[in-house]
Amino acid sequence: MAELAGKHIVLGLTGGIACYKVAELTRLLTKAGATVQVVMTEAATQFITPVTLQALSGRPVYTSQWDARVPNNMPHIDLSREADAIVIAPASTDFIAKLAHGFADDLLSTLCIARDCPLLVVPAMNRQMWQNPATQRNANQLRADGVRVLGPDAGPQACGEVGDGRMLEPAAVYSAIVAFFAPKHLDGKRVVITAGPTFEPIDPVRGITNLSSGKMGFALARAAANSGADVTLIAGPTALDTPWGVWRQDVQTAQQMHDAALASASGADLFIAVAAVADWRVAHVSERKIKKTADGTPPAFEFVENPDILAAVARLPDGPYCVGFAAESDDLDANAAAKRVRKNVPLLIGNVGPATFGRDENEVAIYDEHGITRLPRADKTTLATLLIEHIAKRLPGSLFS
Ligand code: CTP
Repeated sequence: MAELAGKHIVLGLTGGIACYKVAELTRLLTKAGATVQVVMTEAATQFITPVTLQALSGRPVYTSQWDARVPNNMPHIDLSREADAIVIAPASTDFIAKLAHGFADDLLSTLCIARDCPLLVVPAMNRQMWQNPATQRNANQLRADGVRVLGPDAGPQACGEVGDGRMLEPAAVYSAIVAFFAPKHLDGKRVVITAGPTFEPIDPVRGITNLSSGKMGFALARAAANSGADVTLIAGPTALDTPWGVWRQDVQTAQQMHDAALASASGADLFIAVAAVADWRVAHVSERKIKKTADGTPPAFEFVENPDILAAVARLPDGPYCVGFAAESDDLDANAAAKRVRKNVPLLIGNVGPATFGRDENEVAIYDEHGITRLPRADKTTLATLLIEHIAKRLPGSLFS
C-alpha cells in the first residue's frame, strides 16, 4: 500500500555503523510511495556509499554544500523547501549536539537549520555516549525545540556492549514516519481492540482454535495508534509483530480475553471486537494427555458456551462506543443488521464474501444508524485506515464529519 504517496522526505545520514540499516529504510519509504532525497555527511560516506543510496532512492545523493549540480548553489535551501519532513537516521552524538546548538558547518546541518518542515531524529550510538549527560541534555533540548526523537532501542551493540543506544530497526522507523504523517482523528482517545483467534485447551497438547490470523485486528490497532489513540490490543495466539505505538496483552482463551477486555474497557472511548472468539470450550480440560482407547472409541466432550465479550463490554454502564465484526456465510445484510441489534452495538462491520482468514485483502460493509456503507475491496492496511476514519466520525462528540 502506498502509505506515503506524495510525501517528500529528506533522509539525512550521519556517521555511524547503523548507516547499513538505512539502505532498508530507504527501500521501505520508496516502496510506500515517498520521494526520498538522501543527504549524507562526510562521515556517513565512510560507512555506506552514496552509490548504494542513489540506487535505492532513485535520486542523486548530496554530500556537499558546494555541489555544482544545484544551479543556484544553494542546496541547503532548495532541498529543504521541497521536503514534508527531514529524517536524520542514524543521528550521531556529534550531529545531535550540532542540532541542539544550531551549528551549520556542512550541508546536512545547514539544511536542518534552514528547514521549514518537521525534523525527526533517530539516534544511534554506543550506550555510554547516549547516557552521557551532554547527549541527554542535547536530546532534551531537541525535544523542547519540537524535534521528534525516535528511540533509541536497547540491546546488543555493534561495539559488543549491551544497552540503550541502538538505532531503531528500519521497520520501526518506517512505522513511526507513517504515524507522524497520519491525520489525528482519534487524538487523545483510549481504544481497546481484541484480535486473532482464541485457543480453548482440551488437554495439555490439544485444543480448539480457528484460522483467524489477527491481521485485520492488528491493522486496526496500527491505524488507531497512527490516528493518535492510546491503544490496548488484546491478542489471541498469532505470529504477528506488535504494531508501532500499541500496548499489547497476549491471551489464549476466550475467558482470558473476556477478563482482559473488561479490565481495560471501563472508561475507554472505543472498543473494537475483531477477534474470532471460540463460541464453546470443553467443560472439563484433562490434566493429562488423552490417550487412544484399546477398542478405538473416540473421546466424547461436553461443551459449555464462552462469554460473549462484545455483548459484555456493550453492557458496561460507563462503557465505550462498541464496534463488532460479523462473519456470515449467507444473507450478510440481514444477519449483520440483526446481530448489531442483538449485541446492542451502534456499529457492526460485515465481511463481504467468503472468510478472509489469513489473507492480506478484505471487503467489508459498515452497518450503523445511518444505514449501510460499502467499502471497496482493499488490503487490510488501507481498509483499517478507512474504518478508523469512519468510526472516528461516529464517536459521541466527534468534531469530524
Ligand atoms: N464476539 C465476542 N465474543 C464471543 C463471540 C463473538 O466478542 N464469544 C464478537 C466478535 O469479536 C465479533 C462479533 O462478536 O466482533 C460477532 O462475532 P460472530 O462470530 O460473527 O458472531 P457470534 O456472536 O459468534 O454469533 P454466530 O456465530 O451465531 O453468528
